[in-house]
Amino acid sequence: MLTKRLSACAELVSGKGIACDVGTDHAYLAAELLRNGTCREVIASDVAEGPLQAAERTLRQAGLLSKAQLILSDGLMQVPSDGVTDVIIAGMGGETIIHILEDCPWIKGGVNLILQPMTKASLLREWLCGKGFDIHEERIVSEGKFFYTVIKAMFSGKKYTLSDFEKELGRPDWSDETVKEYGRFRLSHYRKLSQQMAAALPEAAEYYGKLAEELAGKCSEEEDT
Ligand SMILES: C[S@@+](CC[C@H](N)C(=O)[O-])C[C@H]1O[C@@H](n2cnc3c(N)ncnc32)[C@H](O)[C@@H]1O
Repeated sequence: MLTKRLSACAELVSGKGIACDVGTDHAYLAAELLRNGTCREVIASDVAEGPLQAAERTLRQAGLLSKAQLILSDGLMQVPSDGVTDVIIAGMGGETIIHILEDCPWIKGGVNLILQPMTKASLLREWLCGKGFDIHEERIVSEGKFFYTVIKAMFSGKKYTLSDFEKELGRPDWSDETVKEYGRFRLSHYRKLSQQMAAALPEAAEYYGKLAEELAGKCSEEEDT
């Protein structure tokens, strides 16, 4: 059984061909995609030997090894593009995800990207829109006291800009209860930042104040600052 974070990634896989799970670690996601029939074949890749051995164990124990290719690769460098319809990059920092995408020309050929940054989601969104990748969907999931962002994107070649608010918080479905809960969490953070910076960094304080104001509207909360 997958965690909510990995389940959200799995739900966004198109199932039209081969999914490549980059940084697969134990291959829990790759194994589930085979087990539940979303994919007939998967590629489980990782930059390190240890995780790849763990991936092999998981897939072997589940009787799914014959449907998986295990590839030692830094990002997508050693991964063949043939038949790959989906690329999942989950559980890594936003900057690492950007590097992996930057180094792979074939992801621009209609590949469905499922990206789950642990940090710097705003940087990743900015990179995606600046390089012509459409963000089709964005989900927020909560696990314990943490919230995770999952982004589904595909290259269109059309560059666009995001507002500061969209850069910071994406375009999730604000009617979703988890998204609102996440919004309230971020709201209190922005309000604190805005207050703390008011004297020494008025411009930054204004920036966070504006984010808080817009967010308060999205979360249906009364602004009380
Ligand atoms: C925290 S684990 C995430 C595992 C799984 N994807 C998940 O989300 O639960 C990060 C994995 O990514 C791998 N990794 C880190 N940088 C990588 C890179 N440049 N290319 C491929 N794999 C990488 C690590 O070796 C590790 O197994």
